[in-house]
Amino acid sequence: MPRAPPPFARVPLAGRPGAISLYAADALAAMPARVGRHRASVVVTSPPYNLGVAYGRYRDRRPRPEYLAWIGGLRDAVDVVLADRGSFFLNVGGPPRDPWLPFDVARTVGERFVLQNVIHWVKSIAIDRAAAGRSAGLARDLAVGHYKPLVSDRYVHGAHEYVFQFSRRGDVPIDRLAIGVPYQDPSNVARWRRAARPLRCRGNTWFLPYPTIRERARDRPHPATFPPELPLWCVRLHGVGRTRLVVDPFVGIGASAVAAARLRLPFAGFDLDPEYLTVAAARVRAELARPAPA
Ligand SMILES: C[S@@+](CC[C@H](N)C(=O)[O-])C[C@H]1O[C@@H](n2cnc3c(N)ncnc32)[C@H](O)[C@@H]1O
Repeated sequence: MPRAPPPFARVPLAGRPGAISLYAADALAAMPARVGRHRASVVVTSPPYNLGVAYGRYRDRRPRPEYLAWIGGLRDAVDVVLADRGSFFLNVGGPPRDPWLPFDVARTVGERFVLQNVIHWVKSIAIDRAAAGRSAGLARDLAVGHYKPLVSDRYVHGAHEYVFQFSRRGDVPIDRLAIGVPYQDPSNVARWRRAARPLRCRGNTWFLPYPTIRERARDRPHPATFPPELPLWCVRLHGVGRTRLVVDPFVGIGASAVAAARLRLPFAGFDLDPEYLTVAAARVRAELARPAPA
């Protein structure tokens, strides 16, 4: 194995063992040596989607077979670091004109891992008042979340991406109620009164809009991020108590690092671009300066 690079930034988890470590390195080459064999409880990441996005250091356009071979390299590197009972959460989206892209990526990863859950990250949604029912108390039809207009006479607006949860055998226990939702329907009241926690499973549709920002260059200086709540929910679903180390091979400006910091969990993240990592380190420090959530 190649020698592991030193961290670009290392922020200790004050009062707890471990740190949030960020590496300016090619993850496929550096991650196995840096993280070690079967050390990662959770790998949560979003790779470049090969759509020509203008990243700082990475050229996001190559022939599809070459791209999928590269995804195969990611799969092999994750195979080295993922614990026996670990979860690999892979976020991928595809434009309406290329709907097979996420499935091609998932198929490539599925050559080694078992696809345990398919989650739909919903970025925007319209809910008709009538469909929500009287108990929801809506005053009008709702349309909430991030909406990027698409001019097309062929395609509907793409409002979601996938999060594929892979594991080694498809049998990793999950903590569904860690991200559960309260029962809403009065007919379920008797059932939830009997339950240990008055919650039901959230299911596989996760509505997570982007936080509203004022100035893109200052508030979100990266072309393709996910909100920290996405990796946060993934780790909580895997089980915080069973998580020793969280890893993100494509950490960007650090959403997954912020999530690990919020949970006070050790973390290793990689990116080719030191400018993104500088932002990520600042976000992690800001997160750790806040009191730990209860
Ligand atoms: C989709 S973005 C991830 C964004 C991240 N989830 C966030 O919220 O900020 C993909 C990232 O992968 C990085 N990248 C591309 N190839 C890489 C490689 N071989 N090793 C490490 N990082 C790489 C790019 O610089 C980019 O920041």
